Amino acid sequence: MQKMWAGRTSGETDRIADDFNSSIRFDSRMFRQDITGSMAHAAMLGAKGIITQSEAGQLIDGLQGILEDLESGKLRFDLSCEDIHMFVEQELTARIGEVGKKLHTARSRNDQVALDIRMYLRGETDEISGQLRALVGTLCDRAEQHKATILPGYTHLQRAQPITFGHHLMAYAMMLLRDLDRLGDCRRRMNLSPIGCCALAGTTYNTDRRMEAERLGFDGICRNSLDGVSDRDFAVELMGALSILMMHLSRFSEELILWSSWEFHFIELSDAYTTGSSIMPQKKNPDMAELIRGKTGRVYGDLLSLLTTLKGLPLAYNKDMQEDKECVFDAVDTVKMCLSVLTPMIDTMQVCADRMLQAAQNGFINATDLADYLVRRGLPFRSAYKVSGQIVAHCIAQGTVLEKLPLETYRGFSPLFDEAVYEAIDLQACVSRRISEGGTSVQSVEEQIAYVREQI
Ligand code: ARG
Repeated sequence: MQKMWAGRTSGETDRIADDFNSSIRFDSRMFRQDITGSMAHAAMLGAKGIITQSEAGQLIDGLQGILEDLESGKLRFDLSCEDIHMFVEQELTARIGEVGKKLHTARSRNDQVALDIRMYLRGETDEISGQLRALVGTLCDRAEQHKATILPGYTHLQRAQPITFGHHLMAYAMMLLRDLDRLGDCRRRMNLSPIGCCALAGTTYNTDRRMEAERLGFDGICRNSLDGVSDRDFAVELMGALSILMMHLSRFSEELILWSSWEFHFIELSDAYTTGSSIMPQKKNPDMAELIRGKTGRVYGDLLSLLTTLKGLPLAYNKDMQEDKECVFDAVDTVKMCLSVLTPMIDTMQVCADRMLQAAQNGFINATDLADYLVRRGLPFRSAYKVSGQIVAHCIAQGTVLEKLPLETYRGFSPLFDEAVYEAIDLQACVSRRISEGGTSVQSVEEQIAYVREQI
């Protein structure tokens, strides 16, 4: 096939080589960015007198028509084109004739593709941030409903101290808030325009890069043309932020999976977000949560893939860089899908507060509070810790729990015990005494919710 870039070469490229070289199958999704970028470029060329205003007008109208026809489905991508940039230019020239060939003045595909992908990822970053805000909002709502619902908090997956379910959910809200912040940082560095860097060295035409940048919603321009066409940091950074986000979603999913097991039975996921087994009639599987956990590996892989692609590249553009797209597109698509199932799954899950309480009641998770009681009566913490440990061992040997141990037995361990010990180890009291900032008391959870709501 004769190429738009035929000139230096005249022999035709091999068909298989064409397929290998082409990126239109995956970069066609950037058609809006490509066309709006070209419209801004045409307008700048006209404004600066590099082409006439009438020519600029024809280019812009032609591009507008292509955009509309692609949106409506009237126009289909020609997969024999090398990429979306070639396709749009070819279609434009077919529609408006010779003047179409002026669009590529003072520009290269190198700065064009860098522009398109920045604009595309900027939109995706905003969309993901919006989804993330919705998830954090849902977590706040559920935490509000369960700010006094007691469950065991774990360390080493061993029952540790009583906490509230609201407190537990707000821990995830805090992580996601940092993810949101990271996406914001990333967007700020991403939002600089590379258009006008041209192939690598800038251009001899009297262009106005800032005019184009402003028109396309950028905060500024890339200040070195080699860097502008070579930089893919923003995509790496985005995937880094998305990997951390997925790590959080995966940990949360793991807990949802554990909690939905019969052994825990702390929650029941809505039928809408579970599946049955094809053979075992009793099963209700948390597939969606498992898939989120599973897809985390895939997003990490996307990040590693681009980092590895870039590590040995000399400046400036190298065709290797075409490999930036599939991984970053996969990462954003995956994250968006995960968020779109996770939020309603959290919104609709049933919380089995009685099961949580039961689990909290029989695991000596108030033993720290027993020690603190003795400390308040004057015993040094280390000694109090030891006495409490002995009492726990006694209970285990006798098959009983702290709440049921008679006062005489307590007094056998230490004369400091009196009736008030039962109030001190009451789970509700254990929780409401944890008033330190960021602690699990109802008041602290309310403060956390208010803070997070304000942030989103
Ligand atoms: N399809 C190419 C890419 O995605 C566009 C840039 C091509 N530039 C070039 N000089 N071959 O990276």
